[in-house]
Amino acid sequence: MSNFRGQVVLITGAASGFGALLAERLASYGAHLVLGDLNVDGVDAVAAKLRGDAVVIECDVSSEQQVQAMVELGVETHGRVDIAVNNAGISAPMKSLVDTTEEELDRNFGVNAKGVFFGMKHQIPVMVAQGGGAILNVASVAGILGAPKLAPYAAAKHAVVGMTRTAAVENARHNVRINAVCPFFSPTPLVQGHVDPQVLELVKSGVPMKRLAEPREIVNTMLHIVDPDNTYLSGQAIAIDGGVSAI
Ligand code: NAI
Repeated sequence: MSNFRGQVVLITGAASGFGALLAERLASYGAHLVLGDLNVDGVDAVAAKLRGDAVVIECDVSSEQQVQAMVELGVETHGRVDIAVNNAGISAPMKSLVDTTEEELDRNFGVNAKGVFFGMKHQIPVMVAQGGGAILNVASVAGILGAPKLAPYAAAKHAVVGMTRTAAVENARHNVRINAVCPFFSPTPLVQGHVDPQVLELVKSGVPMKRLAEPREIVNTMLHIVDPDNTYLSGQAIAIDGGVSAI
């Protein structure tokens, strides 16, 4: 993983879960990090523990202005952004589509879909101008399959896959690689705070590998996708799901 040494990497939602773990790994490989989160104390705490170089910004990804400011911080600090991981996300209240309110739909879209859209909108011009880069959008298995009782989440994550493929085709000639990951359940605070442990046991039994992913297993694949040596992978929505989407 020495390929990451000196790379400027921007991560949204870096205060917790996959984002925090990814920051930890990339710092240990010598990347320069630009970390954003709505939870600024949380992202400060993550940065303080890193064995490496990081700047931190409070960034609500549902605000285009704040996402733009985060990209500008990367450029002002390091003169470039080599890799951007649009990872910030929220779950949704577990209920059927017919019981879901417009407000719940809008809230999920605001963070999970518009957050990624704003990220790419401001990251791509920087990468095009510098001659290339890699963007990784964190979607979900709910972005490629149905997700019962999570309609707003599934709708927003499908949108992430659609905009990933679109932006990848639009920018491939500029050497900007854009991909998405589609993880299945992994016990981060997002899942632990929202899904009943009994439901998780049931979910596990339906996974071909008969277990959920450790967060580090998701992050391992995220690292492979954005690795600067991985030069011909673009426009993909890669499931990390123990075989679920192959059933
Ligand atoms: P997490 O809850 O541990 O971390 C999410 C981070 O995003 C938190 O630090 C939170 O403060 C931040 N965040 C929330 N709203 C934000 C906003 N408006 N602006 C900026 N930051 C915001 O969750 P986890 O699991 O690490 O989630 C990361 C991504 O992975 C999300 O996009 C999630 O949808 C996705 N995902 C997670 C799965 C899982 O099982 N854990 C499965 C599939 C996808």
